[in-house]
Amino acid sequence: MATGLFIAIEGGEGAGKSTQSKRISQHLEALGYEVVITREPGGTPTAEKIRSILLDPEIDDMPDQTEALLFAAARADHAHNKIRPALERGAIVICDRYIDSSVAYQGAARGLGVDRIRALSEWATGELLPDFTIYLDVPAEAGGERMDGTDRMEIQSRDFHVRVQQAFRDIAAASTQPNVVIDATLSIEQVSQAIIEKLDSILANR
Ligand code: TYD
Repeated sequence: MATGLFIAIEGGEGAGKSTQSKRISQHLEALGYEVVITREPGGTPTAEKIRSILLDPEIDDMPDQTEALLFAAARADHAHNKIRPALERGAIVICDRYIDSSVAYQGAARGLGVDRIRALSEWATGELLPDFTIYLDVPAEAGGERMDGTDRMEIQSRDFHVRVQQAFRDIAAASTQPNVVIDATLSIEQVSQAIIEKLDSILANR
């Protein structure tokens, strides 16, 4: 039985997810919690190898199906070998991207179907779902300005990233799981404050 708390941070490119993960982690560690910060694709040795294939800009002929299956394969390893054991120890896990990223990028933006892609990841993880999801909402244009890399996903068209952003809004609006949507164009400090207030109230009610 998992006793920890599983937090996912989602959003398009340049939303500031990794900065916020670190800030939340510092806050929770100061309160005495064991915190595991991790990210997808990746987080375990096997999943990091899969990540390097997924983000390789030299691969320009990857079928969308291969991409979807590799993200799910990386997630299966990560969920079984890192996230679930940490939760079983009672840790708080902060995961930079999780199932909703596949639903937004592969299900919606690639057009593979949101239900199918969600079902694939739920199967891959043994139905390990976040207890709480933070959606950092940033207009695709603003995120693009902060996009500094040139990996295989970042070099997709602007339209692709607009579809991703809209997909995250749709996912958050339809979600029945605990979540918060935060305007990521606010300052780093304001975004952290909003997240921490919400988290503190969740922790106080446990
Ligand atoms: P990363 O450098 O971690 O991006 P970011 O800093 O924006 O989180 O690269 C991950 C890329 O992979 C990013 O473009 C989003 C994409 N992605 C998917 O398409 N599907 C997924 O399931 C996940 C986890 C990520």
